[in-house]
Amino acid sequence: MAGRLEGKVAIVTGAGRGIGKAIAEAFVAEGARVVVNDVDADAANLLVKELGDGAVAENSAIGTVAAAGSVVGTALDTWGQVDILVNNAGILRDKMTHKMSEEDFDQVIQVHLKGTWACGREVIKLWRPLAKEETAEGRPHRKIVNVTSPSGLLGAVGQSNYAAAKMGIVGLTKTWAKELGSLSINVNAVSPTALTAMTEPLIQDPAQKAVRLARFALGRYGDPEEIAPSFVFLASKESDYITGQILCVDGGLVI
Ligand SMILES: NC(=O)c1ccc[n+]([C@@H]2O[C@H](COP(=O)([O-])OP(=O)(O)OC[C@H]3O[C@@H](n4cnc5c(N)ncnc54)[C@H](O)[C@@H]3O)[C@@H](O)[C@H]2O)c1
Repeated sequence: MAGRLEGKVAIVTGAGRGIGKAIAEAFVAEGARVVVNDVDADAANLLVKELGDGAVAENSAIGTVAAAGSVVGTALDTWGQVDILVNNAGILRDKMTHKMSEEDFDQVIQVHLKGTWACGREVIKLWRPLAKEETAEGRPHRKIVNVTSPSGLLGAVGQSNYAAAKMGIVGLTKTWAKELGSLSINVNAVSPTALTAMTEPLIQDPAQKAVRLARFALGRYGDPEEIAPSFVFLASKESDYITGQILCVDGGLVI
C-alpha cells in the first residue's frame, strides 16, 4: 500500500538520524511532503538531498516557542499547510538523581517536554480556526504523534529527567486528545525501542547487553525502519478513530 499520506504536509522533529529519519523516509514514500527538522544541520541537509522535492530542512533547536514557530513557519512558507506533527527530537543526559546537575535536568525537560508542548501549541493555534470553519463531515483529521518511551511508562534507573519528561508527554497526549477531539484533531503517542545512536552505547558491554535484551519478549532491539510504520498508521486516515492512545512498538518490552 502506498500513497496513504498523499497531499499531506508533515513536520518531523529530530529527523536527521535514527527513528526520526526512518519516519521522514516512510512519510515521503507514502506521498507526504516533510519538514526535516534537526539541530544537526548537516544530517538534516543530507536527508533532504536524499528525499528530493518532498522534503525541506529546518535546523532549530527544539525546546522553545521560537523554534516551534520556525518549524511551522517553514512548512507554511514552503507548502502553505501543515497536517501532521511528529514530536520526535530527543536527547539523553542519564545520571543517578544525586549526581544529576540542574543543567542535565533542565536540558532534557526542555527538549522533550517543553519542545513537544511548544510545537504542539503552534500547530494547535494554526489548526483550531481552520477546523472551526469546516463542517464536521468535510473536515480532514489532523494528527499529532508524540514520542514517549518505556522509561516514561515504567520509570528507569538513572533517567529521572528523561522519565519525567516522557511521562509528561503522555500527559500532553491525553490532554490534547481530550481538548481537540471535537475538532477532529487526533493526538497519540508511540513508545518505541530501536537500535540507534541513542541506544547503541547502552549495549556495548556484553553482560549489560544480555540483561537488557532479556527484557524484550522478542529478545532484541528493533531497527528504526520497524518503528516508522506505526507513525505512518497514526498519521494516516486509517487511525481517524484512534486518539489519546500510547502504542508500544518495542518488541514486547512493556507488556
Ligand atoms: N531508540 C530508542 O530505543 C528509543 C526508546 C524510547 C524512546 N525513544 C525516543 O525516540 C526519539 C528518537 O530517538 P532516537 O533513538 O532516534 O535518537 P537519536 O539520538 O538517534 O536521534 C535523535 C535526533 O534528534 C536530534 N535532536 C536532539 N536534540 C534536538 C533538538 N533540540 N532539536 C532538534 N533536533 C534535536 C539529534 O540531532 C538526532 O538527529 C527520542 O524522542 C527518544 O527519546 C527512543
